[in-house]
Order: sequence, then structure tokens, then C-alpha cells
Amino acid sequence: MMKRAAITAVAGYLPENVLTNFDLEKIIDTSDEWITTRTGIKERHIENDPNKATSDMGVEAVKLLCKKRGISPEEIDLLICGTVTPDLVFPSTSNLICAKVGAKNAWGYDLGAACSAFIYGLSTGAQFIETGRYKKVVVVGADMMSRIIDYKDRATCVIFGDGAGAVLLEPTEESVGIMDFILHADGNGATYLHMKAGGSLKPASHETVDKREHFVHQEGQAVFKHAVYNMAEVSAKIMEKNNLKAENVNWLAAHQANKRIIDATSSRMGIGPEKVMMNIERYGNTTAGTIPLLLWDYEKQLKKGDNIILSAFGGGFTWGAVYLKWAYDGSKTGK
Ligand code: UT7
Repeated sequence: MMKRAAITAVAGYLPENVLTNFDLEKIIDTSDEWITTRTGIKERHIENDPNKATSDMGVEAVKLLCKKRGISPEEIDLLICGTVTPDLVFPSTSNLICAKVGAKNAWGYDLGAACSAFIYGLSTGAQFIETGRYKKVVVVGADMMSRIIDYKDRATCVIFGDGAGAVLLEPTEESVGIMDFILHADGNGATYLHMKAGGSLKPASHETVDKREHFVHQEGQAVFKHAVYNMAEVSAKIMEKNNLKAENVNWLAAHQANKRIIDATSSRMGIGPEKVMMNIERYGNTTAGTIPLLLWDYEKQLKKGDNIILSAFGGGFTWGAVYLKWAYDGSKTGK
């Protein structure tokens, strides 16, 4: 019988410091009312220790993950880290996390797919389990967005926050785990969401710093339009492909970029708000962190066999959906 890759533990980490909409009102021309009605966000966590970076958030999530599952980091075979805010261009943040947690027997890599990085990582990580090669694969989604956000660009800075989540994938012979995925990419979307400098196209220079080109450049409306259409479409498609009707879907865990995009997706899927995981009001958009953080926050409510659709859309453009059957009774785990 084919082995499936099941999520057997989930953990997360958020920096302590909270930046509310009211705090933002003091630094840019915005209002709590505008941010709340346009995005659903009330506050986000921001790391204010300059000596901390993305790997440090990943480390906290992975340590908690191992503790919850009762395993040693030395048992991890592979660690994939989805991020657009690596500590350094190289080595990879995955390597740094492994070194800091003592995952001595693991190798790993960073996965650059922006907001879709977690579902890309989950789908690729699952392959190593399904083939029988590995027994413990960790998928981390971690972004310290505050380090690449221009707090003078009011249309972009209000939506992002810092955070990390991680899941452990293990083999199972039961009919639970990662059941299916549909992933897409379209590099033509780069125009609307990218960072202009700091790569090989435009290395850092005085000029790039003066022109504020080391920050996220987002054309919000264009991204919004593509996100609404594609996230809704791919979520409906994965249901259709797996013969899932709305009543068979227990949960939607959608990338938290804007509540209006999530509402459009759930409405296209025909599911009510009681089935939609939502924590955007407290964390904002943590890019690769949003989906594992949702699973972490809702873990206690998840039951073995629950049908969960994960879906995301983001920079690249990248987008897709994963159909997951939850593998354990979440109410029996500690946070
Ligand atoms: O996760 C990665 C993928 N990213 C996304 O999915 C984000 C998708 N885009 C969005 O969520 C939305 O486009 C935003 C939330 C980023 C922006 O909302 P919008 O409804 O598209 O606003 P807009 O950029 O079209 O701006 C509308 C108005 C403009 O004023 P005028 O020109 O109509 O006078 C903006 O200047 O709102 C103004 N505005 C603001 N006003 C108060 C833009 N940002 C703000 C702000 N506070 N923070």
C-alpha cells in the first residue's frame, strides 16, 4: 500500500512586540478604519531586536515542534524552509535553523515561492516520505517581513507582519495526510510584486538604497485581482478533482493576505465562514508563515479525518491548493 505523508505535529512562533493599526496611524497617513475595512487586519507582530532574523523564528517553531512530538532534532532527515526573507543570501536559512536546533543529520534548502512557499514545501516534502526515502521531514514557513517593508509606503506596509510556523511530516499507511495538490506559477506576475534591488540584476549600491529599492514593491490592485481569481479557482478545482462537495470540506486554511480575498475564495467553494480559519486580524500577512500559523492556532479544533483545503496566492506569481486529511485528534495536544 502506498505510504502517505501526514502532518503529525504543528508549531509556530511570533515575536513578542505587537504593532497595532493605531500605532501605524502615528507613523503614516492611515486609519484603523481604513485598514480594518480594506484588509481585516488589526495588528501584527514585529521583531524589534536587530540581532534576530528569520532563522531565529524558525528555530523557536522547530524546537516547539520537536517537543510536542517528543522527538530529538537529530531525527529530522530533511528541513525545507519557505521564505523570502532569508537571514543571508547564502547559506540557506534551512541550514542555519538545522545548526541552531541541532538537527545534525538533516540537510535542507530554502524554497522561494513567497506566499505559496509553505504549500510548495509541503507538496515537495511529502514526496520524500511517499517514496519511502525519509521518515521525518520538517516544513517551515517563516518570514520577517518587517525587514523588507517600506514603512513610508502606506498601501503595502499595513498588511505585513513577522512570524513562523512549522509542521512535521511522517509516513502513514492510513488514508490521511497529503491527498493531493495543484500548484501553479507565472513569472509574468513579477511586475506587480517584487523587490527591485539586491539580486544579481541590480546589486546593492548607494543608488539602490537612496531609491528605496530594497523593499517590497507591490501594485496592490493588480495583485488583488489576480489573487481573488486564482485562489478561488484553484480551491474549487481541487475540490472538483477529489469529488469533494462543500459539505465534505471541514476547513479552509487560506493564505492570510486580505480578508476580502479569503471571503471570495470561501464563497466560490460554497462554504460558510464557520469553516474558514482566520487569524489575519492578529498577525497580518506573514507571507510563508500564514498557513502553518493557521494550523497551529486551530489545531485544538481539528479532528482525525477532517478534510482541509490549504490555498495560497502570492509573489511570482505563485499559487495553488493542497487537499489534506488531518491525521490526529488536535484536542489532545498541548500548544
Ligand atoms: O500576500 C502577497 C499577495 N498580496 C496580496 O494579496 C495583496 C493584494 N492587494 C490588497 O490586498 C489591496 O490591494 C491592498 C490592501 C494592498 C490595498 O487596498 P486597495 O483597496 O486595493 O487600495 P488601493 O491601493 O487601490 O488604494 C485606494 C485608496 C487610494 O486613495 P485614492 O487614490 O483613492 O485617493 C490610496 O492612496 O486608498 C488609499 N490608501 C490608503 N488610505 C489609508 C492606500 N493605502 C492606504 C492606507 N490608509 N494604508
